Amino acid sequence: MTHPAVIDELMTLVDPGKVLTDAASLEAYGKDWTQHYPPAPSAIVLPKTIEQVQAIVAWANRHRIALVPSGGRTGLSAGAVAANGEVVVAFDYMNQVLAFNAFDRTVVCQPGVVTRQLQQFAEEHGLYYPVDFASSGSSQIGGNIGTNAGGIKVIRYGMTRNWVAGLKVVTGKGELLELNKDLIKNATGYDLRQLFIGAEGTLGFVVEATMRLDRAPRNLTAMVLGTPDFDSIMPVLHAFQGRLDLTAFEFFSDKALAKVMGRGDVPPPFDTDCPFYALLEFEASNEDVANEALATFEHCVEQGWVLDGVMSQSETQLKNLWKLREYISETISHWTPYKNDISVTVSKVPAFLREIDAIVAEHYPDYEVVWYGHIGDGNLHLNILKPDDMSKDAFFASCARVNKWVFEIVERYNGSISAEHGVGMTKRDYLAYSRSPEEIACMKAIKAVFDPNGIMNPGKIFAPE
Ligand code: MLT
Ligand code: ZN
Repeated sequence: MTHPAVIDELMTLVDPGKVLTDAASLEAYGKDWTQHYPPAPSAIVLPKTIEQVQAIVAWANRHRIALVPSGGRTGLSAGAVAANGEVVVAFDYMNQVLAFNAFDRTVVCQPGVVTRQLQQFAEEHGLYYPVDFASSGSSQIGGNIGTNAGGIKVIRYGMTRNWVAGLKVVTGKGELLELNKDLIKNATGYDLRQLFIGAEGTLGFVVEATMRLDRAPRNLTAMVLGTPDFDSIMPVLHAFQGRLDLTAFEFFSDKALAKVMGRGDVPPPFDTDCPFYALLEFEASNEDVANEALATFEHCVEQGWVLDGVMSQSETQLKNLWKLREYISETISHWTPYKNDISVTVSKVPAFLREIDAIVAEHYPDYEVVWYGHIGDGNLHLNILKPDDMSKDAFFASCARVNKWVFEIVERYNGSISAEHGVGMTKRDYLAYSRSPEEIACMKAIKAVFDPNGIMNPGKIFAPE
């Protein structure tokens, strides 16, 4: 634990009352949405300016104190968890949209801007911020950049990385760097901006971000389709992608749907029970597009790939269909799930999922397994639910034993052990299944350049040495 005199010094660097050490704050700010590690930070500090962030970093280097950057704390890999006496740096008071350029379609955000705040800002200006996920109401832009957040529209718009025009960062050395200066074209050597995106706060703090916006989509329309088996989902994806520009293509299993139905606040898509469901979305910008979608649906039914389906006819129906997918994560959190967030190239998904499913069925015969994810971009979420009568620690330990087999398959398929949630602490011991020893050595060398004293989020991405 950090010495009280050192915390007193920290208090002089920020506004009065912006260092918190009470038990409730330590508990709230020391964790994210993972339930693996008990939070144990020494203090929480809430800077208001870039200069204050630099002063905090200088203080941390002087006293060799570990800092954990904290956004909306919606992460699912313990990337923002402070379990070892670190000081949490939270951006609740750096949460303003600072500037908007309608011509360049860019918005300058402080790191604490909530994702939905940016989405709404874009909407108010007739534009669109397309990175979206269920936690957009609380996740923050700084955290999204730290994990290169993905979500439900990646098939069309890509990850957060695609929407970052420029960054201001404070490195682990305390230097302020202005990266890429919001340019579209910039061929002046290494693009350091990209290094900070997805770095999980291990290189420094994002203290300002210029985000790009897009044109607003026209008449977004969703379809939910029930399929007779998992293998039918891929030809459905192929058929729709051949005829329409999809903005999303998600899937979930009957078990995932049953959990959401159990809430009682979402209407079922249709009466037919199906083992798997696909949710796709497109811009029905004119009648021809909607007709094309219906014709593709009929083709899929004729082929036996689809058993039943529904297409949204209003904004309310669109939202209700999305709830079937977006509510899954929050709903199953009640069962303390062990979460996997794996990916392969899209064409490999059927064979990959079949192998993983067989391993999981063999090793987790007594656990409920819930599949869902962003199948259109190759990202599958495998969630193992904790039996009610089992302790959390025993459950997580038994799941971790199976990881070896799951991740060996991931490695064989050239996949990723973390598609969008990040490595954090929950996946750090498995990094070598996705990255070579040479790559890991390069990553560590890069960290040493920006953070020579190792004060920035230690123990995240890489296991402590
Ligand atoms: C999702 O796709 O719903 C999110 O990544 C959260 C989760 O995987 O539970
Ligand atoms: Zn996801």
